Amino acid sequence: MKPKVLITHNLLPEALSFLEEHVDFEIGTSETYLPKTELIAKLRDKEGLLPLLTAPIDKEIMDSAPNLKIIANCAVGYDNIDIDYAREKGIIVTNTPGVLTETTADLTWALILAVARRIPEAEQFLRARHYKGWELDLFLGKEITGKCLGIIGMGRIGKAVALRARGFDMNVVYTDTKKLSQEDQEKYRAACVPLDELLATADIVTIHTTLNPQTYHLLSREKLGLMNKDAILINVARGPIVDEKALVEALKTKQIWAAGLDVYEREPEIEEGLLSLDNVVLLPHIGSASYETRLKMATKAAKNLIQGLSGQRPDNLVV
Ligand code: DGY
Repeated sequence: MKPKVLITHNLLPEALSFLEEHVDFEIGTSETYLPKTELIAKLRDKEGLLPLLTAPIDKEIMDSAPNLKIIANCAVGYDNIDIDYAREKGIIVTNTPGVLTETTADLTWALILAVARRIPEAEQFLRARHYKGWELDLFLGKEITGKCLGIIGMGRIGKAVALRARGFDMNVVYTDTKKLSQEDQEKYRAACVPLDELLATADIVTIHTTLNPQTYHLLSREKLGLMNKDAILINVARGPIVDEKALVEALKTKQIWAAGLDVYEREPEIEEGLLSLDNVVLLPHIGSASYETRLKMATKAAKNLIQGLSGQRPDNLVV
């Protein structure tokens, strides 16, 4: 008999066909969110769980599923899962690193350019039929070439963002809990500096760290206050790394020039103040959203799940 598995949300058809060969699965919901009570009811008799990052997996959920062996998250981030409790209960947790690195770095650059050159604002202006002809000072933005890029979190995605900065001949500084080797610093042409120095010197600050108790509100009111008035802040990592209320204020008062966000503090809720500002570009968490990448993520999560259920060590073990 195949092991019973709950997939919180529908996956792409190719990933489902792959899973079908190995497990007996149920799909939790066709909606964006699966209510906790439903998740608990559906998980009760399952050995495996494959959630999206919109499904918080806490103690109560883990305790409600006596046969649960593995949670194979379909994301590289796993802040939606109580990892410490999973470890305590001996439940395996896996994630999907590697496959979304380039896509997310591409989106980071799309956001940097969209913000710096005010692309969404300019496009809306044109669609509203306000364009009357070329003007010397129409939608003046910021130069990117030759500027300083500050990367917070020099993991896989931070490095991929740094490599792309070469095309813009940028000076790259980064901050991370681990300093890169000399060889890597040369490869990525990046210098390690303390966070305060990065914030004070970078023209563009981009966040690529994981969300954990140490990085929650890392970009606090005080830290945002260190950024220069012409600087741009980009966040494609996790919303709660930035104090969103403080960011709204910094953007409103022009304490910083602009921001580009793909993630939010209370997703899918968007801080009201952000929606009315012109100097922020807002995207709906699409950093890894290419068909190829999302398929690789779903397939990787499925493979981890199958490996864990069959007693093998999954490729991407978190705990
Ligand atoms: C992740 O994988 O953690 C991203 O936020 C979605 O691709």
